[in-house]
Amino acid sequence: MGISLTQSLLLCFLLLHYVHLPSAETFRYPTASLSTSWTNSPSLDGSVHFSDGSMVIPILVRARLGPSFACGFFCNGTCDSYLFAIFIVQTGGAYITSMSIVFPQVVWSANRNNPVRINSTLQLTSDGDFILKDSDGFIAWSTNTAGKSVAGLNLTDMGNLVLFDHNNATVWQSFDYPTDSLVPGQKLVAGQKLIPSISDTNWTELNLLSISVTDERAVASLESSPPQVYYEFKFYGRKKNREQTYVILQNGSFALFANSSKPSQPDVYRSIPEALSVQYIRFCPDGHLRVYEMDTDGWKQVADLLSTPNECFYPIVCGNYGICSNGQCRSPSTTYFKQINDTQPNLGFSETTPLSCEDSLNHSFIELNDTTYSPLLSDLKNVDLDPSKGKKKENLDLEKCKEACSKNCSCKAAIFKYGSDSARSYCYLPNQIFSLINNDRRGVHYNTTVYLKVQNASNTEARVPQQKRKSRSTIIWSSLGAFSGLFLVIGVIVLLVWKKRNADVDEEDYLDQVPGMPTRFSYKDLKALTENFSKVLGEGGFGSVFEGTLNDGTTKIAVKRLNGLGQVKKSFLAEVESIGRIHHVNLVRLLGFCADKSRRLLVYEFMSNGSLDKWIFHQTHEFTLVWQQRKKIILDIAKGLTYLHEDCTQKILHLDIKPQNILLDNTFNAKISDFGLSKLIDRDQSKVVTTMRGTPGYLAPEWLSSVITEKADVYSFGVVVLELLCGRRNVDRSQPEEQMHLIRHFEKKAEENQLSDLVDNCSEDMQLHKAEVVSMMKVAAWCLQKDYAMRPSMSMVVKVLEGVAEVEPNLNYNISNPSFTTTSTQVTQLLPFVLSGPR
Ligand SMILES: *[C@@H]1O[C@H](CO)[C@@H](O)[C@H](O)[C@H]1NC(C)=O
Ligand SMILES: *[C@@H]1O[C@H](CO)[C@@H](O)[C@H](O)[C@H]1NC(C)=O
Ligand SMILES: *[C@@H]1O[C@H](CO)[C@@H](O)[C@H](O)[C@H]1NC(C)=O
Ligand SMILES: *[C@@H]1O[C@H](CO)[C@@H](O)[C@H](O)[C@H]1NC(C)=O
Ligand SMILES: *[C@@H]1O[C@H](CO)[C@@H](O)[C@H](O)[C@H]1NC(C)=O
Ligand SMILES: *[C@@H]1O[C@H](CO)[C@@H](O)[C@H](O)[C@H]1NC(C)=O
Ligand SMILES: *[C@@H]1O[C@H](CO)[C@@H](O)[C@H](O)[C@H]1NC(C)=O
Ligand SMILES: *[C@@H]1O[C@H](CO)[C@@H](O)[C@H](O)[C@H]1NC(C)=O
Ligand SMILES: *[C@@H]1O[C@H](CO)[C@@H](O)[C@H](O)[C@H]1NC(C)=O
Ligand SMILES: *[C@@H]1O[C@H](CO)[C@@H](O)[C@H](O)[C@H]1NC(C)=O
Ligand SMILES: *[C@@H]1O[C@H](CO)[C@@H](O)[C@H](O)[C@H]1NC(C)=O
Ligand SMILES: *[C@@H]1O[C@H](CO)[C@@H](O)[C@H](O)[C@H]1NC(C)=O
Repeated sequence: MGISLTQSLLLCFLLLHYVHLPSAETFRYPTASLSTSWTNSPSLDGSVHFSDGSMVIPILVRARLGPSFACGFFCNGTCDSYLFAIFIVQTGGAYITSMSIVFPQVVWSANRNNPVRINSTLQLTSDGDFILKDSDGFIAWSTNTAGKSVAGLNLTDMGNLVLFDHNNATVWQSFDYPTDSLVPGQKLVAGQKLIPSISDTNWTELNLLSISVTDERAVASLESSPPQVYYEFKFYGRKKNREQTYVILQNGSFALFANSSKPSQPDVYRSIPEALSVQYIRFCPDGHLRVYEMDTDGWKQVADLLSTPNECFYPIVCGNYGICSNGQCRSPSTTYFKQINDTQPNLGFSETTPLSCEDSLNHSFIELNDTTYSPLLSDLKNVDLDPSKGKKKENLDLEKCKEACSKNCSCKAAIFKYGSDSARSYCYLPNQIFSLINNDRRGVHYNTTVYLKVQNASNTEARVPQQKRKSRSTIIWSSLGAFSGLFLVIGVIVLLVWKKRNADVDEEDYLDQVPGMPTRFSYKDLKALTENFSKVLGEGGFGSVFEGTLNDGTTKIAVKRLNGLGQVKKSFLAEVESIGRIHHVNLVRLLGFCADKSRRLLVYEFMSNGSLDKWIFHQTHEFTLVWQQRKKIILDIAKGLTYLHEDCTQKILHLDIKPQNILLDNTFNAKISDFGLSKLIDRDQSKVVTTMRGTPGYLAPEWLSSVITEKADVYSFGVVVLELLCGRRNVDRSQPEEQMHLIRHFEKKAEENQLSDLVDNCSEDMQLHKAEVVSMMKVAAWCLQKDYAMRPSMSMVVKVLEGVAEVEPNLNYNISNPSFTTTSTQVTQLLPFVLSGPR
């Protein structure tokens, strides 16, 4: 039989390791004959028991030291039911270690809906089928590969179980049938789904939730009909590549590839801590998508990928109809709803009298003010109540919304969302209601009111005893069939057609509800928050900045009004989303934005000490910083840039580093502002690109010649450092001619070995620390090297500043660049350059 050869090889390989083990008795391993059939009988020497009550009977183990994949039978607890599964275990070569507190993690199983008993068999038949038979002969699972010339079975290094043919081509693989987990490198493509398993001891699928992939996004949804999305990873651009869209767990990120084909440049991603050991993702029954990593003391959760602002945003946290408020669940109405389990409000609520289509005249609505819905509203059926396609939707009022729901029996609620501007209201009509959220305003500029459709019981009926009413509901239930899927019942819900969204509808709304994203404000709101843009904080290349205060009355904000942008584009929202996702202590945080007709505003955290230029150029003598503060500021900027260049999965070039873009908070922590903006402008309007980016004086020499890399930022950083140390502007026309250009002056002083002359002489403290300041100047000189390849990376700069690395000893002090240090304040050359944008 063709199959047995490879199989024998595999097993021999394993046995070889087994034989060579010094202390074989602690590790048990299958010594069964080299058959193509395995029986799960734990009495054999083959089973490995773990202290948490689980047990595995391995069939194939990837031989390694440390965590590794194995497949075989798995059970937990009473062990009266078994899975044929792939699990991650701690191995010491080809055997499984059971001593540790690292328990097996099932990442795939063949038969989670049909667990088998003791004495069931797994068989690779001579015609190439791979079959799991329960002890009574019932076929619990099979690959259906009979007649497909299967030549053997392999468990790959990645944890993929593969049936291959004589050409080593894959006939069947477990990666095509994901369950609730993904391992590194495993792709989830369109047509595949992750579906949670109920628990560690009951592996039945929980058909309520799923994670799936379409052409432009990956979504976590509730499997209602139609599905309701509660989380999305979305690619906003136009898909160019014809490859399948997929999500994948990589080292350092969970990433969506829709348009990009470069492994290092996903279109959308969530960062996760770099893997120190093996990681995997599990989609859990509570709707979280968790990343686990093996650690010396067991498996630890290292990330929660679908993180929402709070627990209330998980759509089954309070069951159906439950209202979640600060993590507590309550009933929408004690008259119309009853708790499914008296002791557990989080299991949800059901109607006291089920809705009846036949009795629709007795329907009414209960009003829930300040309540919103956990699935993304923008994804629900949005009723355009004014089909005349007029530009203004002013006819879309509350009454019309409720009326639309009344008219359609499958509508279970009318969700009305409205802003202060009546033209912007929306009406959503879900067919099924999961958890609702109360009073989470989070600075949103929309109010949402939910109107739940309820059935008014007539007076006589209300008096009917419990027993009788129940039987009446049973009749309604059975007669209504599909419409009555209102309870949290598993398996009732069927996935219907996946409706592809019309990408242009409500485009501006996409970000409204995406948890963790910057808040969207209306122009009117921002006008109010900034008192009609009265307090100007500054003017920048991209527009003016105004001071404002959030509705809470205490949180100050800085509102940047971007100039000269055209119509809103998808890219604007995409860029805002990607900028909003970047969080670092040394980067100014984007809190919100406004895209209202052609108006574009960005809302940032407020930095009370303003920009760095105010503090170092001695316009007045009251502002001056001591050496320790300057040193800290330099390190802060370096860390912020390191993050942009190296720690975001995709590199972000700032391209306009200068003191005006370094902001200081009340304790003089420095944060970089305006990162990502160059890209944003770039995408929205080509005109801006025709002039050179950045600010003369801070531009690296390669702007005139070659490709721009992150080293251009390193150069600008060097200029800023020099300015900080010398307490003067790079180009200062108030100085004598030969000292006007700081960099040239610096070059000369370096030649003369007189760098200490340059130390800021307005500050006594700086004079006291001359030696240290001069040594910092070497860092600046390194960053200012003409040849960008000679400049250090920002992470190297951080290392030097932290004292764990040294400045390159062979620096070239011939750094000044005539074309920049003379009068070139207006450069309008169009430059070809390659940028890695902020995504
Ligand atoms: C086995 O079940 C126990 C109790 O439910 C659970 O704590 C443990 O994590 C399970 N072990 C594995 C390996 O799934
Ligand atoms: C499993 O098979 C063995 C040998 O045929 C038999 O002794 C044992 O009773 C069986 N166990 C169960 C639970 O059926
Ligand atoms: C089995 O998988 C391993 C690891 O992925 C691979 O190196 C090996 O070539 C595979 N064996 C066969 C027969 O395909
Ligand atoms: C299949 O893979 C095995 C192991 O990697 C190798 O030894 C063998 O030559 C391959 N066979 C073919 C037909 O490529
Ligand atoms: C697992 O849970 C499902 C759904 O709750 C239930 O129908 C099934 O009987 C359970 N199976 C076991 C073995 O407990
Ligand atoms: C999509 O890919 C094409 C070609 O690979 C690229 O030019 C384009 O910028 C990408 N679009 C987005 C929005 O990333
Ligand atoms: C993940 O990447 C980091 C940094 O590149 C590396 O140190 C680590 O070993 C990688 N982890 C795995 C599991 O490959
Ligand atoms: C409610 O939940 C409790 C605790 O899980 C359980 O013991 C009880 O049987 C449940 N009651 C009903 C009516 O299902
Ligand atoms: C909801 O708010 C409206 C307008 O503020 C008010 O008229 C109504 O009474 C409120 N309803 C409830 C149930 O509080
Ligand atoms: C009622 O709503 C369902 C689902 O939203 C829709 O498919 C159906 O066409 C609607 N019926 C009417 C009469 O509008
Ligand atoms: C939302 O409701 C509050 C009171 O409940 C009201 O003060 C506010 O003006 C409303 N906002 C909008 C945008 O209508
Ligand atoms: C409301 O329900 C009662 C009892 O089922 C019925 O007698 C009455 O006609 C209904 N009202 C309307 C307006 O249909």
